[in-house]
Amino acid sequence: MGILDRHKVLEKNATLLLVCSLGVVTIGGIVEIAPLFYLENTIEDVEGVRPYSPLELTGREIYIREGCYVCHSQMIRPMRDEVERYGHYSLAAESMYDHPFQWGSKRTGPDLARVGGRYSDEWHVDHLVDPEAVVPESVMPKYSFLLNREIEPTYITDLMKTHRMVGVPYSDEMIESAEADFLVQVDPFGDSAGLVERYPGAQVRNFDGQPELTEMDALIAYLQMLGTLVDFSTFTPDASR
Ligand code: HEC
Repeated sequence: MGILDRHKVLEKNATLLLVCSLGVVTIGGIVEIAPLFYLENTIEDVEGVRPYSPLELTGREIYIREGCYVCHSQMIRPMRDEVERYGHYSLAAESMYDHPFQWGSKRTGPDLARVGGRYSDEWHVDHLVDPEAVVPESVMPKYSFLLNREIEPTYITDLMKTHRMVGVPYSDEMIESAEADFLVQVDPFGDSAGLVERYPGAQVRNFDGQPELTEMDALIAYLQMLGTLVDFSTFTPDASR
């Protein structure tokens, strides 16, 4: 009896065919899924990636509150047109501390995954206040009210504790210094050594140019750090995973 003849038995018996198909799918499923339970981590560790500083995290909350993700993605796909326009494709590790992630599914405006450092703070203020004043054909809404909304670090400790609950490695020291770190990031004359040690690469300055600490400061602090943590001149993907 040839192999085709034996297959005929399966093809002629619907129940047997169903049972055997189920067997094949089950084995295939186990082979695909089981190894995932034994991997400690599916995200490659990448040097430079760190949790958000208190002010950046606050800016991120404002970004989410204002629905910026409705028009902007934060994920550069590994395709030539995207990489040429936006820079190195996004790494999984770059959004590992994002809760919720901001990958997005629509680009009415450009991807923002690497917008950090692309424009000056003044540009961002002018653009957020009135996008059309900077880019005449823009359909982006105005966010000038952010300049008038003063903020205080009232909830920052709770916010960071919440992020710690879902896996962001904020240390006790980071939580204890949260309020001070929040305030010192906009104070170029303050003692920000501790902040920069806890959050390497944190940018310290008055982001919106006003004496008051406002939502505009926090949002721009967040925008200016996007995509800047990993040094792609030295980064090589780990091929062993
Ligand atoms: C209704 C859609 C829409 C919303 C909502 C929106 N944007 Fe935009 N955004 C755009 C468009 C379109 C552009 C391109 C034209 C321009 O630069 O204004 C843009 C451009 C930008 C740029 C310049 C990007 C680059 O690489 O040139 C930044 C930064 C930006 N938006 C930030 C934000 C932030 C922050 C928010 C939320 C507070 C936001 N946008 C909300 C549509 C939107």
